[in-house]
Amino acid sequence: MRLLLLPLLCLPALSAAATDVIVADFEGEDFGSWKVTGSAFGKGPVAGSLPGQMQVSGFIGQRLVNGYHGGDDALGTLESPEFKVERKFLNFLIGGGRFPGETCMDLLLDGKVVRTATGRYTQPGGSERLDWQTWDVADLAGKSVSLRITDKRTGTWGHINVDNIVQSDAPKTLELKKEFAITDRYLIWPVSRDPSQRQRFWFTLDGEEKPLLYADICLSNNPDFWVFTDLADHQGRKVTVTGTIPGVLGDAWEKVKISDTYPGEEVIYQEELRPQYHFSSRRGWLNDPNGMVWHDGQWHLFYQHNPYNHGWHNMTWGHAVSSDLFHWKEKPPGLQPDQEGYMYSGSGIFAPKGSTALPVKGDSLVLAYTANGNHGYEPGHKVVQSLAFSEDGGKTFTKFKGNPVLPHVVAENRDPKIFWHEPSKHWVMPLYYDGEDYGIYTSPDMVKWEKTSDYKIPTDGECPDLFELPVDGDAKNTRWIAWGAQGKYMLGSFDGKTFKPESGPHQHYFGAAYAGQSYDNAPDKRRVHIGWMRDTGAGFQGMPFNLQMTLPMDFTLRKQGDGIRLWSEPSKEVEGIRSATKDLNGLAFSSGQVDPLAEFKGGQYEIEAVIDVAATTASEVGFRIFDDHAAIWKPGDEQFTGARGKQAPVDGKLNVRIFVDTVSMEVFVNGTYVSKFIRQLPGTKPIRIVANGGEVKFDTLKVHTLKSVWK
Ligand code: FRU
Repeated sequence: MRLLLLPLLCLPALSAAATDVIVADFEGEDFGSWKVTGSAFGKGPVAGSLPGQMQVSGFIGQRLVNGYHGGDDALGTLESPEFKVERKFLNFLIGGGRFPGETCMDLLLDGKVVRTATGRYTQPGGSERLDWQTWDVADLAGKSVSLRITDKRTGTWGHINVDNIVQSDAPKTLELKKEFAITDRYLIWPVSRDPSQRQRFWFTLDGEEKPLLYADICLSNNPDFWVFTDLADHQGRKVTVTGTIPGVLGDAWEKVKISDTYPGEEVIYQEELRPQYHFSSRRGWLNDPNGMVWHDGQWHLFYQHNPYNHGWHNMTWGHAVSSDLFHWKEKPPGLQPDQEGYMYSGSGIFAPKGSTALPVKGDSLVLAYTANGNHGYEPGHKVVQSLAFSEDGGKTFTKFKGNPVLPHVVAENRDPKIFWHEPSKHWVMPLYYDGEDYGIYTSPDMVKWEKTSDYKIPTDGECPDLFELPVDGDAKNTRWIAWGAQGKYMLGSFDGKTFKPESGPHQHYFGAAYAGQSYDNAPDKRRVHIGWMRDTGAGFQGMPFNLQMTLPMDFTLRKQGDGIRLWSEPSKEVEGIRSATKDLNGLAFSSGQVDPLAEFKGGQYEIEAVIDVAATTASEVGFRIFDDHAAIWKPGDEQFTGARGKQAPVDGKLNVRIFVDTVSMEVFVNGTYVSKFIRQLPGTKPIRIVANGGEVKFDTLKVHTLKSVWK
């Protein structure tokens, strides 16, 4: 230890305040007069990262205290000699695990912990960057104190890193507490895309005891874009925001304000990569559709959402409503992270008066969600199933005081999809367990649940759906479909308690679609389904929003060549967004001919085609979309691009519908669905008909131009 308790030599002209006092800069070869136990901290400060560790950054000088000796599982402590409190603040750099009492640095007075600090992370991912933290120690002036750095934790983020502990009259971090009168819809934030810049904020309404929500926001002085906290449901009230941020972000914090608009709103839905007829969120990240329920003429679409940045985080239920499945209006979030933790996927249910034990007077809408306590802000919360209800037709939702309605069962059990089983007169909840395992629970009132059975969807997992459909429209001949996130399903029977598989897994959809679910309470017994179009690449780069939903589609069951199978059609509402149609019915086309589709460049088209297979001689037929060989069928082996298995003609015909939007393409071919993101930005390349080695004969060929739903 080179410097201990020595005043830092600092030019007086730079600061009128008293000079800083360095407690420890950890620049020496060993820990000097600090006492070390265990192995986590090694023999002395180290020059950056240790083997197997992500890159450590943010420390000052050449070395720091690194608790990753021997990896996460090594344990130890490091204790300073006593020193006198001589300044108002103690500033230090700290990084690593956020486990109070286990990966922490404590300030001790007479052997008692009087201040404590941890790193930031509990889950895989994150960053090894050290950040400033500040303790206000004015009340300890003149007292003798000491510091203890502790690593008592094994496993993920079971380590702590520290550097540059300095007494100062100026804090390195700002303790925030600001009350905003909610006079307009939004509290707006300038943010960076860099997830390592996250700062945690708590939002409390009118001095209530428990926070309404908490959020990690990458507040930035040089924002990549602006985001907002949507406070439409809390007009006229006051929200207090608290948090601790690095002092350098003081300017950005001054820009956080209540507003009826947010910078960027003037060009919303006109951004380069914005889907024009698929749902995408105004701001932030989107994954699974959630809470899908039809009620009173409105389709409710909730969705897994990070309102504050481009990637997955802050799991919130975004909320949008539509009367036609295409024109969506975004509402304030349905569920936000709070004491229960993150709001993971789940379902929306119409609950008629008297059908639940929830504290509601008449009919209600219920959201069944997974509260993921592993992502909570206080320890002791598990991954459990909870409910929220609405008595105003889905405008506002109240979390049930009796939550959770189903305590933790196993692993990260999640994604409850509740529905009413009329013959048994009870509620049913399929729940995802782990691997390919699911459980079934039943309840007379949605509050008391009992486990009735288990089932599997081999090679699938997550996000169950369970529903009944007539075969070829025959209400007397039905099957149940047990659906998983990857679009695989088991066909079978269900008696209200147990699902008995009869065949499967069958794969119904392919490509980017994932974690879809179907609507509860849809009119005309329709089984309307929407999926999330996920992307394994970088997503919608450079945009203030990320990813989109699939087209809405209707599921039916049909007897096909190899048995009873699901069949998808684009929901009929899509016809409402057609603006013009080019009709080429009866076309016979062979390669080399002038392509009648060459005029179609850019997004927003639907191609509707019925290919007469018997009259077709080409060995490959279909469509090339903006240079992407995406929708091509080979009559020889009946294989279709992107779909595994055969796509056999039905009555000698191949029915194809292709939907092209700004960056996506979706193909329905004889009831199967395949989707894909288009990497090539549209606008430059035309759509082309493919007829390799012969001729393709179309009974029907139409290209419908589709309108933007945002205009
Ligand atoms: C599926 C999923 C769900 C989970 C949610 C979290 O994509 O992993 O199982 O509830 O995402 O966002």
